[in-house]
Amino acid sequence: MYIVVHTTEGLKSIRITLGNFHLFHFREGKHQVQLMYGTSEKDIYKNLSSSKEDIEKFQSGMEDAWSLYGQDVICAFDLSSFNRVCDVGGGSDAFAKQYISCYPNSTVTIFDLPNVVERAKKHFVPSEEDKITFQSGDFFNDPIPEADLYILARILHNQDDEKCVALLTKLHKACKPGGGVLLVETVLNEDRSGPLAAHIYSIVMLLVLEGKERTLSEYSTLLVAAGFKDVQFKKGQHYDAVYGRK
Ligand SMILES: C[S@@+](CC[C@H](N)C(=O)[O-])C[C@H]1O[C@@H](n2cnc3c(N)ncnc32)[C@H](O)[C@@H]1O
Repeated sequence: MYIVVHTTEGLKSIRITLGNFHLFHFREGKHQVQLMYGTSEKDIYKNLSSSKEDIEKFQSGMEDAWSLYGQDVICAFDLSSFNRVCDVGGGSDAFAKQYISCYPNSTVTIFDLPNVVERAKKHFVPSEEDKITFQSGDFFNDPIPEADLYILARILHNQDDEKCVALLTKLHKACKPGGGVLLVETVLNEDRSGPLAAHIYSIVMLLVLEGKERTLSEYSTLLVAAGFKDVQFKKGQHYDAVYGRK
């Protein structure tokens, strides 16, 4: 587990340590991204991606998960019929490498913000050169690469419901019939009794983003609102897979 929560001064402040990347929040009922960065930009990822050092700390912390849990979610469903895959907000090649090892006939395009893609390309060891490509852009405002399957790993939990539906609708439009979307998240139990990791991630979301952890019913509602159907779910060891088809 990479997250440690410290409470200080009673409930006045909470400190989160994510790897060696420190986040602070004071209880004002809204996230403190502008205060943290001293900018007018509310989106933590746009702030983060303006500093090479912060990108490095954040992305290297994110990557580790996929050597441990990647196969679990990638092999949860038979995705072998999808040749062109896009890892939306992929961050680095960590997930894509695991994907290619499971489905060697597929190609994966990693789509992320420009400075994140620049860092990912620098770290890329080109043994899967022909299989993994990179494209930079903003998934809300720029065109998304064409693909048969879109992966959203740890993306929707960063966003409020409205933005989730906007992004999913964009992916649904970009998909041909028969295409799909795979969500990778730590899904809350329907009665919200756990798992503990999902509750901890919810605290992180409250501090720096506008998202939250969701139950399977909540993810299904978002997928259906965007036009996806036949929603299926597989519970993993830590991350779970939710799969929808066009
Ligand atoms: C929580 S990380 C997940 C990274 C990767 N999917 C994983 O699970 O390891 C969220 C990713 O979304 C990217 N991201 C956030 N907002 C974005 C946007 N508007 N357009 C493209 N990528 C974005 C971030 O740069 C970051 O790499």
